[in-house]
Amino acid sequence: MPAELVCFEASCRASYPITEVIYTCPRCGGLLEVISREPLPDPAELRQLWRARRLSNSPLDQSGVWRYRELLAFLEDYSPVVSLGEGNTPVLEAPRAARWAGLDRLAFKHQGFNPTGSFKDNGMTCGVAQAIRLGMRRVACVSTGNTSASMAAYASAAGLQPIVFIPHGNIAFGKLAQALEYGAITFQVEANFDQILALVRVLAEQLGIYLLNSINPFRIEGQKTIMVELLDQRDWRVPDWIVLPGGNLGNTAAFGKGLRELLAAGLIPRLPRLAVIQAEGAAPFYELFRRGEGKLEAVRNPETLATAIRIGDPVSWPKALHEVRATNGLVEKVSEQEIADAKAIIGQCGIGCEPASAATLAGIRKLRQSGVIAPDDDVVAVLTGHLLKDPDYIHRYHTSDLRTPSGQRLVSRYANPPRVVPCDPDKLAGLLEELRSE
Ligand code: F0G
Repeated sequence: MPAELVCFEASCRASYPITEVIYTCPRCGGLLEVISREPLPDPAELRQLWRARRLSNSPLDQSGVWRYRELLAFLEDYSPVVSLGEGNTPVLEAPRAARWAGLDRLAFKHQGFNPTGSFKDNGMTCGVAQAIRLGMRRVACVSTGNTSASMAAYASAAGLQPIVFIPHGNIAFGKLAQALEYGAITFQVEANFDQILALVRVLAEQLGIYLLNSINPFRIEGQKTIMVELLDQRDWRVPDWIVLPGGNLGNTAAFGKGLRELLAAGLIPRLPRLAVIQAEGAAPFYELFRRGEGKLEAVRNPETLATAIRIGDPVSWPKALHEVRATNGLVEKVSEQEIADAKAIIGQCGIGCEPASAATLAGIRKLRQSGVIAPDDDVVAVLTGHLLKDPDYIHRYHTSDLRTPSGQRLVSRYANPPRVVPCDPDKLAGLLEELRSE
């Protein structure tokens, strides 16, 4: 077998067959990672091969994940792969956001352009391929919304039964709508994400249902290609910083693994620094990083309007901590007001994103103000989810009715409210004259 599952804990490193249905190390309880033993072609050859595949019409080559399959060497053949055209997400220059944050330039890699509108699709195509390869019929996840939307789509497309568990009352409507429309059995559980994950891990084991949360190492394999595609799009020029929001920390783990593998393969000469941004009310990883030692201390009642990252006990923290340190990176936290402001600015760029994604721009501004990021640093922020995932937040913001979980009204500094007008051409002409932009 070209790849195996290996315990992530440096003191253990036990290895298991790639076809074993395990999510943590049976010996020590550590997280697992996929390690490939397959030698890679030389970097010039790989670059050329990946570039040539962009011109191919084969679904495998058109996928922005499977195009890089030399780095996904866990399948014996590609017959279990179901692609919905994931990846292929743009890198967008955003001068207005750059100015707002105090940078000369800023680019967004927008994962919201994925088929279900978030970066989860990059991982899900791999997780579902592994489920099929293992002969699983049912798959499950607990989710703050995007994982469930993505899993529902990929599982249904593959003919598997998707079972979704979400925190009752705390997921954005766009995401819930997707799970229902894609045909997932959907349970709204009266508990928070962390409590439901504990429940679902037990259930999955008891009932032989395949778990597709980011604790699943095959999800991480897919998500690492976000970094591969980004570097490919930049003709392998390494940025100084890659900034991303942190919730359950699977993406941080995936980005770090991807970057280290690119370095080891000779595809990049150095690592960019990872900056992980958390919401103030759900920032256990920030606290751990600041303390600099010990284990993560869970936040019991995480709260943020950025519901995607409303997580108090992120499972992938050991991997994420390793990756942040390996890249000389850091962790920052931002307030609800900072997220709301940043989100409106990203909207004004004509780009838009969901609240959790906007934590990146808020974090960049803060890190610029404290001098950690320099004005001429080369920065890429990863926008993780599409604007339309959470329309309720947007409507409240622009009608100056957005309140923090504790009931405090946020300042809608960049509000653009809809105007109720009479059906009168003269009045409208007058109003439009008043509102004419220079
Ligand atoms: N941004 C968005 C839009 C997300 O949906 C998530 C996570 C994150 C950021 C954080 O990523 O967990 O890898 O650190 N959403 C998960 C879900 C938890 O269930 O959809 P992370």
